[in-house]
Amino acid sequence: MFDVKEIRKDFPMITNHPDLIYFDSGATSYKPQCVIDEVRNYYEFDNANIHRGDYDISFKVSKIYDDTRKTVAGFINAPRKECIVYTYGATSSLNTVAINAGNKLLKKGDVILTSEVEHASDILPWFIAAEKSGAQIRYIPFNEHALMDLKDYEECFKDGKVKIVALPYVSNVMGYIYPIREICMIAHKYGALVSIDGAQGVPHLKIDVQDFDIDFLSFSSHKMLGPAGIGVLYGKYDLLEQMDPIFYGGGSNARFYEDGRIILQKTPEKFEAGTPCIEGVLGLRKAIEYLESIGMDNVMEYGIELSEYFIEKLEKLDNVEIYNKGSQSGIVTFNIKGIFAQDAASYFNKMGISVRTGNHCAKLLQNVIHVNETIRASLYIYNTKEEIDRFIDVIKDTTIEKCVDSVL
Ligand SMILES: Cc1ncc(COP(=O)(O)O)c(C=O)c1O
Repeated sequence: MFDVKEIRKDFPMITNHPDLIYFDSGATSYKPQCVIDEVRNYYEFDNANIHRGDYDISFKVSKIYDDTRKTVAGFINAPRKECIVYTYGATSSLNTVAINAGNKLLKKGDVILTSEVEHASDILPWFIAAEKSGAQIRYIPFNEHALMDLKDYEECFKDGKVKIVALPYVSNVMGYIYPIREICMIAHKYGALVSIDGAQGVPHLKIDVQDFDIDFLSFSSHKMLGPAGIGVLYGKYDLLEQMDPIFYGGGSNARFYEDGRIILQKTPEKFEAGTPCIEGVLGLRKAIEYLESIGMDNVMEYGIELSEYFIEKLEKLDNVEIYNKGSQSGIVTFNIKGIFAQDAASYFNKMGISVRTGNHCAKLLQNVIHVNETIRASLYIYNTKEEIDRFIDVIKDTTIEKCVDSVL
């Protein structure tokens, strides 16, 4: 296991705000100095576009940009770097898959199998794909803890209509890890493809796209210590080959003609029209190297340790309702009895604690857990048990009066 005290020294946000407790890494993580330096270094020493300049700095940056695909591929164990498409974030990756499915894979009567725990970015694109193709959305039955039974999941395939499955690796509200290997195995048995929303899973857990046999995996750099504005779409190469870009423009075409013919670049460059987030790619490489230096097994183990510790402490308080007692990835979701989540967050903010409240972009989840507004504390490698203790003391003392005072 790593030394969290040492880790904390790498994060300027912690040094610059020593009294602030940041429990909102599910929204975006802090960045270590090495990532910040890399982005800054690009602007100070290597500022050039990629693949567009016939000079040394452009060659240098283009090479790092291209080589980073190998780093990303290694991180998720993709079989080749050409399976890695740079996008603007998980949302643009998920849209790329859904738009292609709507245009090319799905037809009237087909079924898109998903769940009511999805983040908006993994359900709205599928609504559009359904509307476009005439396919239907089907929701896997989840119990009131937002967990599924694999038998119920398999039952959803029995009429032979499911063509694609869209599910998260980890729920952004419940913090549960879904059984991706089994999900893919069952879907493939019935000839369906699987698109996994890895936005909350990839930063915290080891993932092996080949072992799990995932068809598509989407994730964002900014939730895993890297810069914002850059994300990844992993796809099996033969599937990416069959897909069309969402955007067209410079960098993604080999040739075009006055009669409208376009010869696209090969996969994955055909998906990457326009100047990409170059500094984001460079920063993402550093973020991955940083996570790898800690070891994803350790990251995962520490996430479980923090969640368990937090939940154990919360369970001892009688003014708290916890919604995800089995959380394993640093996400703890709860309410203070009789207090509106946002009012509680205002008080926490006054006490120097940052959390998120509301429905967390998972607006259908209330159909499953029967509560709409919750407080979500999402922790990462730089958080400590001492911070949890401080938060627990604040929660213990939270009253309606204190919350109202903080809102006014
Ligand atoms: C589960 C999940 N999916 C998708 C997204 C979208 O990620 P981004 O906003 O980085 O595109 C988020 C962001 O919070 C998320 O938590």
